[in-house]
Amino acid sequence: MVPEGWWLPWVHLITVCWVGSVSAGFTLEQGIPHFNTKPYFLPPPAKNVTALEGQSAYLHCRVAQLGDKKVSWIRRRDLHVLTSGVHTFASDQRFLALHADRSENWTLHIRFSQVRDSGEYQCQVNTDPRISMMFYLNVQEAATMMDGSDQRYVRAGSTIQLSCSTSIASQPPGLLYWYRDAEILQHGGRVNISTHLENETVSKLVILGARVNDSGNYTCWPTKFLPASVMVHVIPEAKAAAKSHGTANNGGTSASTTKSTKASTSIAKADLPLLLTLVLLTWTTEALLLTGFTPARSVAVPSQARLRLPAR
Ligand SMILES: *[C@@H]1O[C@H](CO)[C@@H](O)[C@H](O)[C@H]1NC(C)=O
Ligand SMILES: *[C@@H]1O[C@H](CO)[C@@H](O)[C@H](O)[C@H]1NC(C)=O
Ligand SMILES: *[C@@H]1O[C@H](CO)[C@@H](O)[C@H](O)[C@H]1NC(C)=O
Ligand SMILES: *[C@@H]1O[C@H](CO)[C@@H](O)[C@H](O)[C@H]1NC(C)=O
Ligand SMILES: *[C@@H]1O[C@H](CO)[C@@H](O)[C@H](O)[C@H]1NC(C)=O
Ligand SMILES: *[C@@H]1O[C@H](CO)[C@@H](O)[C@H](O)[C@H]1NC(C)=O
Repeated sequence: MVPEGWWLPWVHLITVCWVGSVSAGFTLEQGIPHFNTKPYFLPPPAKNVTALEGQSAYLHCRVAQLGDKKVSWIRRRDLHVLTSGVHTFASDQRFLALHADRSENWTLHIRFSQVRDSGEYQCQVNTDPRISMMFYLNVQEAATMMDGSDQRYVRAGSTIQLSCSTSIASQPPGLLYWYRDAEILQHGGRVNISTHLENETVSKLVILGARVNDSGNYTCWPTKFLPASVMVHVIPEAKAAAKSHGTANNGGTSASTTKSTKASTSIAKADLPLLLTLVLLTWTTEALLLTGFTPARSVAVPSQARLRLPAR
């Protein structure tokens, strides 16, 4: 005799197993409850990761039900196995595997990331067949640009104005320092530093009343970027004054309307003694030649005087 409703516990068990399979990885294969122990990927926080050159980059791969399987990180560019489990295989010690015990996270940590690290990275689990998830790392150049030429000449007493900017906006932006040689410049007094770190980092340095000892190698250095430098030469007052005095005199002469007249007069005045000498010499030479005298080689005869000889 089979009691009525004998099938109820079975329906109940099947229902529990089915509901369980949905929430915890059970499956029903041909009506038999079965644990799906195969590893699978959990959605990562990001598959396309952007990092700044010189900073750490992290690729987070999340795997559930890993069991005795291993997670490896492979660089697609050269199919190099960088890490396997928690071990680093890459000869490049900048690559590290981060994993906390019992966690689903298998993170590839790239220290001091370089622009050339950009590309595809594969998170792979050694199941049969293998399963993998592709990540993309984009490392951006962290350059700083100094406006203008790299040699700056400034007169003493005038204003030194420098400006620098970064290649890209960084999140978070960090800090920015200005240096003169090894000394950090502080805002205040003659020095005005204004920095905008919002979208693209731009910083302006203004030094009023430049002094000779303000000369030096000025460096703009945002903390997460490479530095940029400019050489500032403050020309002393005396030299600048001497230069400007000379310029003023020349300017005065050239500005004079009587310049050409004065110049010709002065040239005539200067040449008068020479002309008289030449005339005298010519007369003397002619007189000597007429009397049959040959001038000795040691006697310096002006060329103009000699030129006149064949004309006689
Ligand atoms: C990744 O993101 C950057 C910008 O965030 C984009 O320029 C690039 O095309 C993306 N790469 C891929 C492979 O999705
Ligand atoms: C695993 O990574 C996720 C996302 O990156 C994070 O929210 C979570 O706290 C991490 N878990 C552990 C145990 O580290
Ligand atoms: C400093 O420079 C900024 C921008 O050039 C200007 O807005 C600000 O008024 C200056 N501050 C002083 C104290 O001169
Ligand atoms: C920064 O960018 C945002 C959006 O692109 C813009 O609204 C904001 O005005 C910008 N800030 C500055 C200082 O340029
Ligand atoms: C620079 O020269 C000024 C005088 O021109 C002087 O007061 C100041 O102390 C000097 N600064 C340094 C760092 O030598
Ligand atoms: C200026 O200083 C920077 C940083 O210290 C250095 O890299 C650069 O070579 C210096 N430039 C000159 C012309 O000395």
